[in-house]
Amino acid sequence: MADQRAGRAHWASRFGFVLAAAGSAIGLGNIWKFPYITGQNGGGAFVLVYLGCIVVVGLPIMMAEFLIGRHGQRDAVGSFVALEGKGSPWCLVGWGGVAASFIVLSFYAVVAGWSFDYVVKSAMGTFPGRSAGEINALFGGLVSSPLQVVFWQGFFVAATVSIVLGGIRGGIERWSKVLMPVLFMLLVLLFVRGMLSPGAGAALDFMFRPDFGRLTPQALLDALGHAFFTLSLGAGTMITYGSYLHPKSDLFSLSVRITVLDTLVALLSGLAIFSVVFAAGLEPAAGPGLVFQTIPIVFASLPFGSLLAFVFFVLLAFAALSSSISMLEVSVAYLIDEKGWGRKRSTFLIGSLAFLVGLPSALSFNVWAQVTPLFGKTFFDLMDVLVSSYMFPLGGLFVALYAGWFWKGEGEKEELLGGRHRAWLFPLWHFLLRYVAPSAVLLILLNQIGVF
Ligand code: PHE
Repeated sequence: MADQRAGRAHWASRFGFVLAAAGSAIGLGNIWKFPYITGQNGGGAFVLVYLGCIVVVGLPIMMAEFLIGRHGQRDAVGSFVALEGKGSPWCLVGWGGVAASFIVLSFYAVVAGWSFDYVVKSAMGTFPGRSAGEINALFGGLVSSPLQVVFWQGFFVAATVSIVLGGIRGGIERWSKVLMPVLFMLLVLLFVRGMLSPGAGAALDFMFRPDFGRLTPQALLDALGHAFFTLSLGAGTMITYGSYLHPKSDLFSLSVRITVLDTLVALLSGLAIFSVVFAAGLEPAAGPGLVFQTIPIVFASLPFGSLLAFVFFVLLAFAALSSSISMLEVSVAYLIDEKGWGRKRSTFLIGSLAFLVGLPSALSFNVWAQVTPLFGKTFFDLMDVLVSSYMFPLGGLFVALYAGWFWKGEGEKEELLGGRHRAWLFPLWHFLLRYVAPSAVLLILLNQIGVF
């Protein structure tokens, strides 16, 4: 076991860890999902609730997940076993994380696959010279073809598998150092371009002028769920990554950095996208196609547009990849640590299963578009709602309850947080974790199921 544990300690440096964890957090959630659910939920008020959830619920829970992983020194399930003993009900929290990260991988690969298709489209110079309407229609053409969608979904799962197979340090860690900053710069470029366009005022207005009349129970749940989704919480991911942490690292400043970067990327993407939406007279509530239908329009009008579009979609695919490897790693680490399996066998098995389980989601945009087994939702939407609205928030709720109330050893927690240097930090963190985060999650969930 000790050897295996040494074998999975990928992050040689603290920097490597920040990259990995930020890579996990920053992904399709920021660039694809945040803008489209903001559009569907009417903008400003939704954004405000989302930001509130990030600060008072997400950040403290992220610190708790890192603590649990670092202290447990094992995968998401094993860390609870290490802390509470085998058979403790808390191990279920780890299990929930393993299940949730597996399910999210299954449908995440579908959307990530689209970004690969857009890499090819932009390399072939598909966008320049086309009208906004034509670019819009390209997306429909892609998702209505089951063959194309499944091909790219498989391609993406295979890419994820190949990285997790080879260990993460040499591949993703090295590339992240170059690609994440480039992604960030391109987003800033898109943002500036958007702010100079005629849609800028409307975009700022839409995102930052709250209209609380539009806050439905659904919007509250979406905002909360997305805070977990975007920070990769309640999914066992940050517990698993935390278990690779150096014992002395300053969890608070690491978590703050990851959270700030993640939020910044989401806001920049949102503003960039909505300025195009409003300038081109598109529909903010267009749904999952939003980023694919809008960003190419900006590039089509820029010098070197094809090249920039190409770089953008490569980076989007890369951002998705650095998130998907963290999803796969949760189950793989579980099989390695708890079942004594090899990395190769675990990775192939989980990768293949995730592909198969993802097929109904891939078909939800074409041949099974009319198949709505529950609540009038397609498989894709059901999977998304299941993990984002329920499994992640519930996982996070139990992490908060565990770390806030049940995990004894105050001194230990305080020291682990580096509390000696910041006297205010531990009590504040504890308060948020004990009272604020659990009540927020519970209120929003109960509100959604119509208790109030
Ligand atoms: N945080 C990732 C994103 O925003 C998604 C993710 C969820 C990753 C859960 C890992 C676990 O795209």
